[in-house]
Amino acid sequence: GQSRLVDGFGRTVTYLRVSVTDRCDLRCVYCMAEHMTFLPKREVLTLEELDRIASAFVSLGVRKLRLTGGEPLVRKGVMGLFESLSRHLKSGALDELTLTTNGTRLAEFAGELAGLGVRRINVSLDTLKPGLFRRLTRGGDLTKVLAGIEAAQAAGLQVKVNAVALKDDNAGEIPELIRWAHGRGLDVTLIETMPMGEVETDRTDQYLSLSDLRRELESFWTLKDIPLSTGGPARYVEVAETGGRLGFITPLSHNFCEACNRVRLTCTGTLHTCLGQEDATDLRAVLRAGASDAELIEAIRHGVDAKPKGHDFRIARDAAPAVARHMSTTGG
Ligand code: GTP
Ligand code: 5AD
Ligand code: SF4
Repeated sequence: GQSRLVDGFGRTVTYLRVSVTDRCDLRCVYCMAEHMTFLPKREVLTLEELDRIASAFVSLGVRKLRLTGGEPLVRKGVMGLFESLSRHLKSGALDELTLTTNGTRLAEFAGELAGLGVRRINVSLDTLKPGLFRRLTRGGDLTKVLAGIEAAQAAGLQVKVNAVALKDDNAGEIPELIRWAHGRGLDVTLIETMPMGEVETDRTDQYLSLSDLRRELESFWTLKDIPLSTGGPARYVEVAETGGRLGFITPLSHNFCEACNRVRLTCTGTLHTCLGQEDATDLRAVLRAGASDAELIEAIRHGVDAKPKGHDFRIARDAAPAVARHMSTTGG
């Protein structure tokens, strides 16, 4: 077989995130602008092209595939892509095939996902207050997401709730959100807001350091570090009082780039080896020029070799976003 994918700093890439669409049925204030221009269809890879590139990564030692967006479940035919990629679970080449979703269409797809071998999914949910949810998502309906989470659990999927910590918007509610989730057997991961793309709202004002928040939680809860690793960037604790697990994703307050194992593919076939850098390899051009598998693999290796050491995210008033593209382009 192939030798593994190792970058120029000696980090092995074992996790590929695939953004299958730049579209979303929500418009979260920290992620998108109110009016987004979406990509024309010809620029977007077909499901077959996405499968071919993702499978090339699997042949290079990637063990974990996560479909993202935009919202992956708004892409027409996405279940066909899951089905086709699930062959790598069956062959033992992949440890995990999963997705990160806003949950609005989960009720419809949970059963099918579970049937295809998806075991553990992440659902973005920043608040349990319908009014605040509507404001943060610019019009979303919380009841759909809650129904989606319920359906996922009923289908046997393990669910982790992702909450972006926002200073005024939801910080006060986070303990309650954690209690609610842990009471239902859901894990929670808190995320620091990252400056990607122009979004019209001020992420500087809403930035909350999770090392501060952690200290606050520790004034009434006992947090015990646990060695859980999901393959992503979160560091986990167990909350003694709830018995549940809580993760922290801290790109700003505690950089984790040194141990990075991830790269990402956009729905236009661009390989971004770092979320917080502009570096990009156009795999679509390679594919559409009729490349052989060997040529595709060569282009992938070349891109990974140039993976930057780390991101340049910082929170500073009036600073331009660290990268111009929106989070919805790369899917986090
Ligand atoms: P697990 O499999 O549960 O560990 O998932 P994950 O944390 O890898 O994926 P998820 O899609 O839930 O991402 C949660 C948050 O982590 C998102 O806001 C991502 O943008 C962020 N994230 C994931 N990988 C990276 C990374 O390499 N760098 C940075 N800065 N953020 C990342
Ligand atoms: N900073 C941090 N997290 C973000 N997400 C979207 N935009 C941002 C941002 N600017 C989160 C979503 C989702 C995950 C994939 O990324 O809430 O949970
Ligand atoms: Fe890796 Fe870049 Fe993420 Fe840092 S920001 S953890 S280098 S992908």
